[in-house]
Amino acid sequence: MQTLMNRYGIVGRNEALREALATAVLVAPTDLSVLIQGESGVGKEVIPRVIHDHSKRRGKTYIAINCGSIPEGTIDSELFGHEKGAFTSAIGEHEGYFGAADGGTLFLDEVGELPLSTQARLLRVLETGEYLRVGSSTPRKTNARIVAATNVDIPNAIKQGRFREDLYYRLCTINIKIPPLRERQGDAVLLFKKFALDTAQRYNIPEPIRLTPEAEAVVNSYKWPGNIRQLRNITEQLSILSESRSITPEMLAKHGITPNSDADTGIATIAGSNRSGTQHDYEQEIKILAHAVFELRSEVQELKKKLRGGESWHDAQAGTTMPVPINTQKGTSPIAHTYHSLSEGRNAQPLDMDIPTAEEIVDDDTLNIGNMEKRNILLALQRNHYRRKLAAEELGISERTLYRKIKAYGIDE
Ligand SMILES: Nc1ncnc2c1ncn2[C@@H]1O[C@H](COP(=O)(O)OP(=O)(O)OP(=O)(O)O)[C@@H](O)[C@H]1O
Ligand SMILES: [Mg+2]
Repeated sequence: MQTLMNRYGIVGRNEALREALATAVLVAPTDLSVLIQGESGVGKEVIPRVIHDHSKRRGKTYIAINCGSIPEGTIDSELFGHEKGAFTSAIGEHEGYFGAADGGTLFLDEVGELPLSTQARLLRVLETGEYLRVGSSTPRKTNARIVAATNVDIPNAIKQGRFREDLYYRLCTINIKIPPLRERQGDAVLLFKKFALDTAQRYNIPEPIRLTPEAEAVVNSYKWPGNIRQLRNITEQLSILSESRSITPEMLAKHGITPNSDADTGIATIAGSNRSGTQHDYEQEIKILAHAVFELRSEVQELKKKLRGGESWHDAQAGTTMPVPINTQKGTSPIAHTYHSLSEGRNAQPLDMDIPTAEEIVDDDTLNIGNMEKRNILLALQRNHYRRKLAAEELGISERTLYRKIKAYGIDE
C-alpha cells in the first residue's frame, strides 16, 4: 500500500482512504464499471488512473474527460462521434471518445453533469457495448472500460429527476467512496507538510513552512469544507506569502482557518451555512453586503457615464463581449465562447479591499470586464473553498458555464 501511495503521491493514514485504494487495485483486472463518489476536492481523480495502471489495459489508451466542461450541444458528438454531415458544422466524420478509448479506459469525471439524453446513450453502451454515432443508425462496438466519478449526491439527483436511476445502478457495479478530509484524523497535518515541501521545491524556496504545535491543532480540528484542494491552495499561499517559515494559528486565521469551525466566509455564509450567528459573523456579512451594493452602484454609474459620453447602450454591451477559444479536454476542438454581461459575474469584494470610486473603476484598465470577471470567479472559488458548485451558485451561473470560464481564463484551481 505504501509503495502504491508513494507512486501516486497520495498521503494519508486514514483507513477508509486505504480501503478505497485497495478496492481500486482489486477491481482493476476486471472489466466492471466503477463509480467513485466523494465531496469536491477529496482526491477522486487519482483512482481511475490506479485502476487503469493495474489492469490488463495499462498499455492501451487512457482518456479522462470532464463531462461538466463540454457544452451540452456537442457532448453527444464528443463522446460518441458523428458522421459527416450529421449537423451543419460536421464537415468530416469524428470518432468520439468511446471509439478512441476502445481497448482502454474511459474516465467520465463529473458524470452527474451529463444531460439526461446523453445518460440514455451511456446506459446503452454499458448494457450492450454498442453505441451510435450522431447521424448514424449503424451500431458500433467499443470495449472501453468505464470509470466514472462524481461529487454530486446522485440519490438526490435521481429524486429531482436529474439522473437516471437505472444508469446509477449500472455505473456503480463497484462503488468507491473517498472520505472527506474532516473524517481523516491526522491526515491534514501530513498533507500540509507534503504540500509545503512540494511548494518549496517547485519555487526553489530554501526552507518549507512548518506549523507550530498550536497551529497543528487548528489544522487538525478545522473542517476543511473544500477538502484537500483547499488545504493545498492555502499551504501554497502561505508558503509564498508568509515571511516567517513558522506558521501560527493567527496566520491561519487570516486565511479563515480557525479551530472547530468550517469558517465559511462571504455570500455562502449568508446563503445558508449552518454556522451560528455570532456578532463577528454579522459584521462580516454587513461588510460583504455593503461592498456588493457599492459595486452594483459603481456599475450603474459606469454605464450611465458611458451613455452620457455618447456611447450607445449597444456599444457598452459590445465592450463586454469577448470571444475566447477554449480547449476542452484531450483533443476536443476549440469552441468560440461569448461572455455575458457584467451582471453575471458581479460579486462581493474581499473584505480588506479599498473601495474604488466609480471614476477609478472606469479609468483602471485592470478592471476591464474580462479581468473583473476572472477576478470575481477567482474570489468566488476562494470564498467557497474551491467547491465549484457553490461558487457557480454564488456567481449566479450554471456549473457548466463556470467550468468553461475556468478553462477559458486559464484559472488553475
Ligand atoms: N491523499 C492525497 N494526497 C496528496 N494529494 C492529494 C490527495 N488527495 C487529493 N490530493 C490532491 O488534491 C487535489 C484535489 O484532488 P482531486 O482533483 O482528485 O479532487 P476531486 O475529488 O476530483 O474533486 P472535484 O469533485 O471537485 O473534481 C489534487 O491536486 C490532488 O492531487
Ligand atoms: Mg475532480
